[in-house]
Amino acid sequence: MSKRTGTLSLGAFLLFTGHHVAGWRHASASDGTTLADFVQLARLAEAAKFDALFLADGVAARLDEAGAAGHKAHNGFYPFEPITLLSALAGATTRIGLVATASTSFSDPFNLARQFASLDRLSDGRAGWNLVTSGDLGSAYNFGHAAPVAHADRYARAEEFIDVATALWDSVEDDAFRRDRASGDYVDRAKLHRIDHAGRHFAVRGPLNIPRPPQGRPVVVQAGSSEPGKELAARTAEAVFTAQQTLADAVGFYTDLKGRLAKHGRTPDDLKILPGVLPVVGRSESEAREKFEALQELVQPVVGLGLLREYGADIDFSQFDLDGPLPELPETEGGKSRQALLIDLARRENLSLRALYLRIAGARGHWQLVGTPTQIADQLEERFTNHGADGFNIMAPTLPGGLVDFIELVVPELRRRGLFRTEYQGTTLRDHLGLKRPQSRYAAPLATAAE
Ligand SMILES: Cc1cc2nc3c(=O)[nH]c(=O)nc-3n(C[C@H](O)[C@H](O)[C@H](O)COP(=O)(O)O)c2cc1C
Repeated sequence: MSKRTGTLSLGAFLLFTGHHVAGWRHASASDGTTLADFVQLARLAEAAKFDALFLADGVAARLDEAGAAGHKAHNGFYPFEPITLLSALAGATTRIGLVATASTSFSDPFNLARQFASLDRLSDGRAGWNLVTSGDLGSAYNFGHAAPVAHADRYARAEEFIDVATALWDSVEDDAFRRDRASGDYVDRAKLHRIDHAGRHFAVRGPLNIPRPPQGRPVVVQAGSSEPGKELAARTAEAVFTAQQTLADAVGFYTDLKGRLAKHGRTPDDLKILPGVLPVVGRSESEAREKFEALQELVQPVVGLGLLREYGADIDFSQFDLDGPLPELPETEGGKSRQALLIDLARRENLSLRALYLRIAGARGHWQLVGTPTQIADQLEERFTNHGADGFNIMAPTLPGGLVDFIELVVPELRRRGLFRTEYQGTTLRDHLGLKRPQSRYAAPLATAAE
């Protein structure tokens, strides 16, 4: 396949204390717990012309991890629920996309469709929804389950959930509301549609009772890389976040997923693949190394073992020799692709348990780059031009410092190479990602040029 040209997309994945598991302990890190902290980060990313801000979410505090919870900030607590926070940030920004995570396993499509339609209207068309299925035990406990919901069941519900949500966003046509004072016509009843959905998980009549979002539908994002995850993404997602360690893995995932679109009548440009990357940037290689080592030294073994429990398998790793190899892991009903990635990483690099948790302490299995601006831009360019990514979800190790470093040192280098925008061309998240605006399925087909 020929080398690609054009510009790549950049997302700012804002995990409030930074992505390195010990980032919160770094002297430069802010607490990341106030609206002002997030406004600062949002404006930093918008000034750098990023496509979107991305907020992760979970619906359970993670307290039972062999005591790790007391020593790390990524313990399932969040300063704010993401849709609420992004609604506030919509008022503090004008162009940057706003992507919030929400679970299909523990919410209802009518409510979520209303919330994302509202965020899209509040932001004049900048909303995105990262659809997750929440496979962890803690979440299940908070919604009346005694065990994790099975992987297959979570995805079956997600398939139906997204269909109901998109039907609801379409159920009010763009021009339904006339608000014609003279004639007294407020809304055109013919442009409001019941969806009458009756499925295995949901029965929803509709229409949605929020006018149609400016983007038609918020951008749907997905982050599962298992077989059911890829099938759901190929049919319904417009952007996919993923963790891919090597160029070969990234190109393999990219080719596989893009290759599944045609059977759904979609083209490769209808879906953007944005792997996560944790960049540690220094003006020299040694400076970058020092920055990274300073963070690694802050990792406590109990926290490292907690990470293996979260992404490897729900077992107590403290029973094993830290300098011994990764033991056989029981298959998880949680994040299947992340478990596979960890096992592969440990085997491929012959890592001990200690080396493995230090290896994922920064990026939890995502791609990690430590180097100069040129070295980092080289790697990003290689992955982009070789069809391994359409852009990247930037996971700053510490905030705000790690994001500032990337923006001040790497973004100018990407621009010098013609790989990243210097100005926003459009106003909506779809404009930034180069995605079409979906027509409501109920609306009369748009007149073509010939008619
Ligand atoms: C970049 C990225 C961000 C994610 N963010 C969240 C999140 O905020 N909340 C969540 O519950 N899961 C999140 N996930 C996990 C995925 O939704 C999914 O459960 C995981 O990738 C495993 O999917 P699989 O079982 O299909 O392989 C994220 C995954 C990736 C790659």
